[in-house]
Amino acid sequence: MLVLGIETSCDETGVAVYDSDRGLLAHALHSQVALHDAYGGVVPELASRDHIRRLLPLIREVLRRAAVKEPDLNAVAYTQGPGLAGALLVGAAVANSLAFGLGVRAIGVHHLEGHLLSPLLEKKAPSFPFVALLVSGGHTQLMRVSGVGEYEMLGETLDDAAGEAFDKTAKLLGLGYPGGPALAKLAQDGRPDRFAFPRPMLEQLEKNGNLNFSFSGLKTAVVALTRTRALDEQTRADVAAAFQEAVADVLVAKSLAAMRATALDRLVVAGGVGANIRLRSLLDAAASRGKFSVFYPAMEFCTDNGAMIALAGCLRLKTAKATRALPLGFTVRPRWDLADVAA
Ligand code: KG4
Ligand code: ZN
Repeated sequence: MLVLGIETSCDETGVAVYDSDRGLLAHALHSQVALHDAYGGVVPELASRDHIRRLLPLIREVLRRAAVKEPDLNAVAYTQGPGLAGALLVGAAVANSLAFGLGVRAIGVHHLEGHLLSPLLEKKAPSFPFVALLVSGGHTQLMRVSGVGEYEMLGETLDDAAGEAFDKTAKLLGLGYPGGPALAKLAQDGRPDRFAFPRPMLEQLEKNGNLNFSFSGLKTAVVALTRTRALDEQTRADVAAAFQEAVADVLVAKSLAAMRATALDRLVVAGGVGANIRLRSLLDAAASRGKFSVFYPAMEFCTDNGAMIALAGCLRLKTAKATRALPLGFTVRPRWDLADVAA
């Protein structure tokens, strides 16, 4: 089964071809970072227009690299939501038109399901069931994943997502967009113990096993500190390191608690913040102590990409319920809860 995957939910145009037998055949990504940098964040209208410009050439390029002709495709998968409405519409329109023209199925994929299943792209892939820690720019969730489409929420953020907290803190420190990678780089030169930032929701975990997250208080603590101090180079690096440590500590503690609560022995980490090296090393250490295995997607598949959408589309194609009659209309779902995705 050959599936073309298209990702246009935010500021990356991602395209890939996935083969159910041979795995990922080719993928390509066009990042809009340079386009939005001057504005300090994603400008939705500019994002949509750039997806329009990039998507068709990128599809041609990926098909060429995969040595696949359009008629060989069995389905076209695309990110149907959540994300920016205009950006989603570009991918949805192209995917549905292409699928209609080829007489194959168009499969609307939930963006987070793509992230969640992305470690399955790796040679050392986890088998079901597993616990997933999904840490992206818009979401922070712990889930029990029993199979494709079988997701049980264990805990989620009550306010800011981990990636969002990274981005906002990076902005406070005068770093560019996207802030996460820049903050992580600055943190390498900092001392994590110079400032004691709060570990939100850890008390609740100890009291009643609550697996929810909250990061807005941590951000407020950084705001308060940066207002009262001159931000010389070393102080900025120390703030970055202390902030990163606080976020990673909370993510690790809650993941450990989720492993205990579910009695599972596989943890999957996905989403942009999953690229954070400090988080990865703390999780690896916790895993060897706690006797469970941690699975990550390759660095390039932590952040948004077409490969995870092609893979998720391929897995969906195999499940009977996903193969509805080919509709001629389509819609996008800018707001879409993963819990509403049926198995
Ligand atoms: O999954 P993703 O590419 O997009 C969403 O679906 O949101 O995640 C993007 C988020 C951004 O907030 C970005 O700052 C963060 O992931 N991020 C990182 C790192 N790389 C990306 N955060 C911390 N450390 C990193 N190395
Ligand atoms: Zn994403």
